[in-house]
Amino acid sequence: MVTTEQINLVQDSWKQVVPIADQAAVLFYGRLFELDPALKPMFKGDMLEQGEKLMRMVGIAVDNLERLDAIVPAVQDLGVKHLEYGVKNYQYDTVGEALLWTLGQGLGDAFTTEVMVAWSDVYGLLASTMKDAARAAA
Ligand code: HEM
Repeated sequence: MVTTEQINLVQDSWKQVVPIADQAAVLFYGRLFELDPALKPMFKGDMLEQGEKLMRMVGIAVDNLERLDAIVPAVQDLGVKHLEYGVKNYQYDTVGEALLWTLGQGLGDAFTTEVMVAWSDVYGLLASTMKDAARAAA
């Protein structure tokens, strides 16, 4: 359950990340491959472009938190796509950890415990929607 207050925290903190989205994407993938180098070969495309896609998708989710119903079908499709990429359930935890770490780097002192928990809940919601759709499609 994501509360209205958490939605505000996530949306306000995301605004501070948007101007540095390119750097955040570089930090994110650097951290991800440090946490699990085995993930690196899964990414075949240009990493800058990949970073842009990731940031765009997170941005769309953040902008639509008040009406998540509207984006659930797109998130489910993304989950099925990730099944095709060979993504395993446990890898969602590693991606979540890299994302939270990146937000911490980008936000500095503004990354309070409340902001961290709000992001963790939002990421968890997206990840479980993706995993459920992948399981149903498998
Ligand atoms: C909430 C979680 C996630 C979001 C929002 C997300 C978002 C995206 C997006 C938007 C794309 C581009 C899809 C397209 O081209 O149409 C993508 C591709 C991809 N994602 Fe994710 N992703 C998530 C979790 C993960 C996880 C856990 C992994 C595991 C390592 C992963 C690995 C990949 C790979 C390998 C690709 C394809 C890269 C390529 O084409 O070379 N993603 N992701």
